[in-house]
Amino acid sequence: MKWSNKIANTIEWSGEISNREQKEKAAEFIAKRVKDGDVIGVGSGSTAFLAVVAIAKRMKDEGLSITAIPTSNEVSLTCSILGIPTTTLLQKKPDWAFDGADEVDQNNSLIKGRGGAMFAEKLVISSSPESYILVDESKLVSYLGEKFPVPVEVDPRAINLVETKLGDFKATEIKLRPAKGKDGPVITEAGNVILDVRFEKIGYDFEKEIKAIPGVIETGLFTGYDLKIVKG
Ligand code: A5P
Repeated sequence: MKWSNKIANTIEWSGEISNREQKEKAAEFIAKRVKDGDVIGVGSGSTAFLAVVAIAKRMKDEGLSITAIPTSNEVSLTCSILGIPTTTLLQKKPDWAFDGADEVDQNNSLIKGRGGAMFAEKLVISSSPESYILVDESKLVSYLGEKFPVPVEVDPRAINLVETKLGDFKATEIKLRPAKGKDGPVITEAGNVILDVRFEKIGYDFEKEIKAIPGVIETGLFTGYDLKIVKG
C-alpha cells in the first residue's frame, strides 16, 4: 500500500533556486550521463535536487533502473518521493557521483557545506571513481573564501578546543552556525555543530591540517580532488 499524505509526497525545493536556468542545464547534463544499472552518489543542495528530478524523469520515460547513494536526509527524501531506490556506502560503491558546490577556484578546489552535508558528501565523492560538480557562474571564484566561509563540522564537546586551534590558521572570523526554525545551533545529521570560519588566506594544506584538530569531524574544503566541473 502507498501513503497518500501530502508532506512526503511533494517535490519542491525549500525556497527560491538562484540561477535556476544554469543549474537546470548542468542537471540535464547529469541526467544524460545516467546508464541503466548505475549506482550513483547523489549530492545535496538545490543543484543536486534539480539533477535528481531530471534523472527521475529519464528513469520514468525510458524505464531505466538506477540506485542512489544519498548524502543527506534532504536528498534521500527527494529520492524517495520520486521513486528512486536508495542504498548506502556500506552496501554499494558508487559507479560515479555528482554534487553542487558553493565555490570553485581555478584549480577545481571547492568550498562546500552551505547545506551542512559536507561530511557525507566527502565520503561519497571520495568513494567514487568519477565525480561531477555542477555549478552556475556565481560559484566560480578567483580564490577560495572569496564569498563563503569554510564550514567546519565539530563535535559539540570540542567547540572551545577547535576555536582555540583555529587561531593557528589565522582565522579572522569564527561563527557557530545558527539554526533557522529552531533556537540554538544547527545540529548536523551526525549530531555535530558547524563553525563557519573565514581566514586571512586559505592554504593548500588547510583541509588536512584542520581535519587533524581533535574534535573536527570534517571541513567543507575539497582541495586537490580529481573532479569534473560542469558549468551550466
Ligand atoms: C550542501 O551541504 C552543499 O555542499 C551544497 O552542495 C552546496 O551548498 C551547493 O548548493 P546549491 O546547489 O543549492 O547552490
